Amino acid sequence: MHRFLPILALSSLLMPTGRAQLKDFPDGPAKEYVTRICLQCHEASQLLSQHRTGDDWKATVARMAQKGVSAPTEQFDAIAAYMAKYFPKTEDATKINMNKATAEEIVKVIGLTPDEAKALVAYREKHGDYREWGEMLVVYGVDGRKLEAAKDKMTF
Ligand code: HEC
Repeated sequence: MHRFLPILALSSLLMPTGRAQLKDFPDGPAKEYVTRICLQCHEASQLLSQHRTGDDWKATVARMAQKGVSAPTEQFDAIAAYMAKYFPKTEDATKINMNKATAEEIVKVIGLTPDEAKALVAYREKHGDYREWGEMLVVYGVDGRKLEAAKDKMTF
């Protein structure tokens, strides 16, 4: 019954200290690849501070793929997409891409409450990308007046 417990306890002892910040990576299918591939050479904190455009992430990950850690191409592609989604560089710092931004970024740029921002992200994940700001008016729990006031700061 309990025969797996000692193994789990042991493996958590053996984890490198860099793992302290692993939890700061958003959950996503590629998180496991980042852990297994990228964190072989990088501290989590080093990667968490990077923000790049999608093309930049593709180029960077392609370069990292040459550094000798072998993994299927799909895993590197998944990492590039994951990093571009969660660690994006918005071209114009005063604007925010409502289909890529994290709830935290939405709070910062648009001035919504964390709950409102999370509702927008959850709706987007369930129903797909927004095409314009008016589509967000149906999201339950989000103040439409705030959205309208911030509509010029949004890109899609
Ligand atoms: C085998 C070791 C190794 C692995 C695995 C690795 N990197 Fe790197 N990475 C490096 C080294 C060495 C540098 C610094 C030299 C350079 O930029 O080429 C670097 C630099 C970087 C930079 C800054 C480079 C720039 O363009 O300014 C980023 C961002 C980065 N790595 C992300 C990643 C990501 C994401 C992964 C996982 C796909 C990854 N690395 C996997 C060794 C590695």
